[in-house]
Amino acid sequence: MSESLHGFRGSIFHFVCPADAGTAPTFEFVQDGLLLVENGHVKQMGDFRSLKNSLPSRVPIADHSGRIIMPGFVDAHIHYAQTDIIASFGRQLLNWLTEYTYPAETLFADEQHGRNTARFFLNELLLNGTTSALVLPTVHALSVHTLFETADAMNLRIVSGKIMMDRNCPEQLRDTAERGITDMRAIIHRWHLKNRLSCAVIPRFALTSSERQLEAASDLLKDHPGLLFHTHLAENTNETASVASFFPKRRSYFDVYDHYGLAGKNAVFAHGIHLDETDVQRLAETGSAIVHCPTSNLFLGSGLFSLRDMNTHGIRTGLGTDVGAGTSFSMFKTMAEAYKVSQLKGTSLSPVEAFYMATLGGAHILGLEEKIGNFAMGKEADFIVINPDRLPILSRRIRRAGKLEDTLFALMILGDDRIVERTYILGEDMTPSPMDSSDPDV
Ligand code: GUN
Ligand code: ZN
Repeated sequence: MSESLHGFRGSIFHFVCPADAGTAPTFEFVQDGLLLVENGHVKQMGDFRSLKNSLPSRVPIADHSGRIIMPGFVDAHIHYAQTDIIASFGRQLLNWLTEYTYPAETLFADEQHGRNTARFFLNELLLNGTTSALVLPTVHALSVHTLFETADAMNLRIVSGKIMMDRNCPEQLRDTAERGITDMRAIIHRWHLKNRLSCAVIPRFALTSSERQLEAASDLLKDHPGLLFHTHLAENTNETASVASFFPKRRSYFDVYDHYGLAGKNAVFAHGIHLDETDVQRLAETGSAIVHCPTSNLFLGSGLFSLRDMNTHGIRTGLGTDVGAGTSFSMFKTMAEAYKVSQLKGTSLSPVEAFYMATLGGAHILGLEEKIGNFAMGKEADFIVINPDRLPILSRRIRRAGKLEDTLFALMILGDDRIVERTYILGEDMTPSPMDSSDPDV
């Protein structure tokens, strides 16, 4: 953590406070701004010239003039154990899981493989300007320990927990309702609220959990009300049809989770594409949140998410890359694909809304809005420096941009990891070098 007072000069962009779903989020942009960070937390943010005069003369100021300083991205749904199967050809969700995903996840019984992957994965997040994430490991408790250990050493704010799955999956990846809970209790004891880490209860999805396991997950959440609940929901039509046959008494896929008391203010569901009006109403009534994962939904041909339905019902939403079904670690690319999905659904996702979902909105659905997501005083100083000049076409486009919204839109459509010049964690420069991503496994 950066110990004393430091300043960072540049054009500063952030959202002022969590927005009510469906209302335009309020942002702030200071052309020549100064972000003051003390002991890793935001002390003040404002106009460079006004703030500079009130500072003691010896305060070091990193000059990022000509660049945009903004809060780090929050990726609200990503699988670290699927890093190595990103871009695996073809198939829809259920055969993609059996053909590529489950074999890759089996390897995480090996500690060294987990450690190596966790290091690469977390570096990749930082290279892309993602400073916080809700990360899915595997069924192995070991895979959570290696992830948390690595994240803790890097001081990252990460939410995770072991995947629970006690049926419809390969033997090596199967736990039991009891084992899932025992493992999770140990994980919570060791990691929950340790430094910047926190835990989520994560049954993979309705198809891989017995009723007993869903009940056990619900009991665990009652014992630990501060935990997040996370799972996949209504991503694919075949998946949704199978859920109906495995849970014949339930009205819908969402009703399976709702029935076991798993919906609520702490519940975050990935996807939520194939929902009906009653499901959407129940999502809203329970205060549950949805993570939109557009690159994954397009890659697996899962369907087109309706952000408008969520906004109309006041449901909080964030963005997830969903690597390895997702095709990029970049939240810029994720915003771009979210825009294209919204176009196909007849609404245009505004750049302001997209950047909100990728920062403070994401923090809000993970219950971290008091800690990260913007530059409010006292927040943890995780931020990135964006340099559009690193991409000639983007640089040229932005020079011709009128309003800030035009610049943001060009960034989200054309940007990627190349424009993330620096990534700061708690005020400290943690930008990885490409050397940090070496691969000892092969
Ligand atoms: N549904 C259940 N497991 C998975 C997974 O690993 N990825 C995606 N995209 N959907 C899932
Ligand atoms: Zn997923």
